[in-house]
Amino acid sequence: MSHHYLRFDDVHYSYPDGHEALRGVSFCITHGEKVALVGANGAGKSTLLLHTDGLLMPDKGHVVVGGVTVTRKTLPLVRQTVGVVFQDPDNQLFMPTVEEDVAFGPMNMRLTDEEVEVRVASALSAVGASALRRCSPHRLSGGQKKSVAIATVLSMSPSILVMDEPTAGLDPRARRQIMSLIASFDHTSLIATHDMDMVAELCHRVIVMKEGLVAADGDTASIFGDSALLEECGLEQPWRLRCGSRIG
Ligand SMILES: Nc1ncnc2c1ncn2[C@@H]1O[C@H](COP(=O)(O)OP(=O)(O)O)[C@@H](O)[C@H]1O
Ligand SMILES: [Mg+2]
Repeated sequence: MSHHYLRFDDVHYSYPDGHEALRGVSFCITHGEKVALVGANGAGKSTLLLHTDGLLMPDKGHVVVGGVTVTRKTLPLVRQTVGVVFQDPDNQLFMPTVEEDVAFGPMNMRLTDEEVEVRVASALSAVGASALRRCSPHRLSGGQKKSVAIATVLSMSPSILVMDEPTAGLDPRARRQIMSLIASFDHTSLIATHDMDMVAELCHRVIVMKEGLVAADGDTASIFGDSALLEECGLEQPWRLRCGSRIG
């Protein structure tokens, strides 16, 4: 299952204004891992995620998806493997209707009409958005847009699912739905989030970022058990731990 792994080798990236957002990031995620990416605002989480499918390219270092190094040439291959859900769903939705947005990826993969229909129906059902099929994405609520944006990525059947703050701004029911979807996604996932309760519940591993570097990378229980680290990186323990129960 080599196409399910994701590796960063000493990745550096500066924005055009000169701000160095990634200052030498390395890690490797293997098949089936559910990894949380946490860190204070501005730590570099979104910048890192934009490197997973080549929306940004490193100034130095490499990103490797399966055996494939991300370059302009390998982008089509990489994007069949990695599906990125952006922080702002308005960057992901651009068609007149929800179903056209969700069908867009599968149609580009040149699947048959029947296959496209199956993908659209199952992706919308997975995020609880079947009833929104014929709506205009721009008229949906923030949470509905988020769900549909996730469906546009699921419809491509990615081997590696990358999400930027998937539960931010969702009501409790929508949050629960997205969480059960992530739980049932049995490939590899990398999720940037401030939702520590979700991390405690779904992720077995946490990568902590601080100022463009990986400050820590370990199993969820040991990261959340390290209060000095959390304090230093501007993070909080999940509610369950604050209330004295263990993370299992
Ligand atoms: N388009 C941009 N141009 C210049 N600097 C940016 C841009 N986007 C993000 N940054 C800066 O890069 C750093 C990392 O940002 P980001 O990756 O969005 O962090 P996070 O997702 O952890 O909040 C921040 O200091 C941010 O201000
Ligand atoms: Mg961000």
